[in-house]
Amino acid sequence: MSYDWLNALPKVELHLHLEGSLEPELMFELAQRNNIDLPFQTVDQVRKAYEFSKLQDFLDIYYQGANVLVVEQDFYDLVWAYLEKCHQQNVVHVEPFFDPQTHTDRGISFEVIINGITQALKDGELKWGISSELIMCFLRHDSEEAAFAVLAQAEPFLDQIVGVGLDSSERGHPPEKFSRVFAKARELGLLTVAHAGEEGPAEYIWTAINDLKVSRIDHGVRAIDDAKLMNHLVATKIPLTVCPLSNTKLCVFDDMSEHNILQMLEEGVCVTVNSDDPAYFGGYMTENFVALAQDLAMSKEQAKKLVRNSIEASFADAARKQKILALLD
Ligand code: ADE
Ligand code: ZN
Repeated sequence: MSYDWLNALPKVELHLHLEGSLEPELMFELAQRNNIDLPFQTVDQVRKAYEFSKLQDFLDIYYQGANVLVVEQDFYDLVWAYLEKCHQQNVVHVEPFFDPQTHTDRGISFEVIINGITQALKDGELKWGISSELIMCFLRHDSEEAAFAVLAQAEPFLDQIVGVGLDSSERGHPPEKFSRVFAKARELGLLTVAHAGEEGPAEYIWTAINDLKVSRIDHGVRAIDDAKLMNHLVATKIPLTVCPLSNTKLCVFDDMSEHNILQMLEEGVCVTVNSDDPAYFGGYMTENFVALAQDLAMSKEQAKKLVRNSIEASFADAARKQKILALLD
């Protein structure tokens, strides 16, 4: 069966960690450029190491991989490679995350990180018309104090960031740990999103909504355990940025055939399709859509509804949303 139509479909990506788009080939190139030792000899060895049984297995390798990013050009090259993929797959608007603490903790300046990223995003818009909004994530395994410190470093660059998010190890780090720093971010005019209900319980989705006042929930697949929450998501239209291949790679679902994204779609939740960390999980946007077609018999109508949800859930302005909708119809 050909799934070319899924590649051709104009798409919007709302849940993508730029550090998670670091392909092993680029990892080796940057390691060499920056004289950094990798615990692998070949690209094949790296890919073989990508066997995970839970989120933390992945995070340990992901933070190690990010060590090869040192100077502005490295961040530029990382983002550029992601945008090339977007162009090939007809992804026309993106709202990527970056994890500044992963780099500032190694002595890289915030300015180096954000300049490399935003220059590539600007060039991608000029060359391919891919629009973007950038989201800065706090690492939830780290302290509230550390999150406040990185927010202070971001203040001179707020014109380049649309919002803040919350990622890394979910269990044991509930959203409310960051209530005060999210309140400060909102005071600064930033929007908020948070990973919740990936490995953690539905309760974390409630606290992300009520305490962090998020505009979207990242993942959120555990919402299905709580009927009251499902009703709330349908009534309020709070979107979920779901990542199918990530969920099977990290054993959130044992098999794609057990994934609940289409069930939630049919129940009226604003679910969207995203790739999360495509270099680690075996695919970008098209591959995620193809997985749903193959294993869940997703129809064309469902695919288009998923994209329409992404357009509506995005932080693009009304004119841009209209343009993307017109591409779809
Ligand atoms: N950081 C990168 N990918 C992540 C994920 N899937 N969950 C939490 N933190 C992450
Ligand atoms: Zn994520």
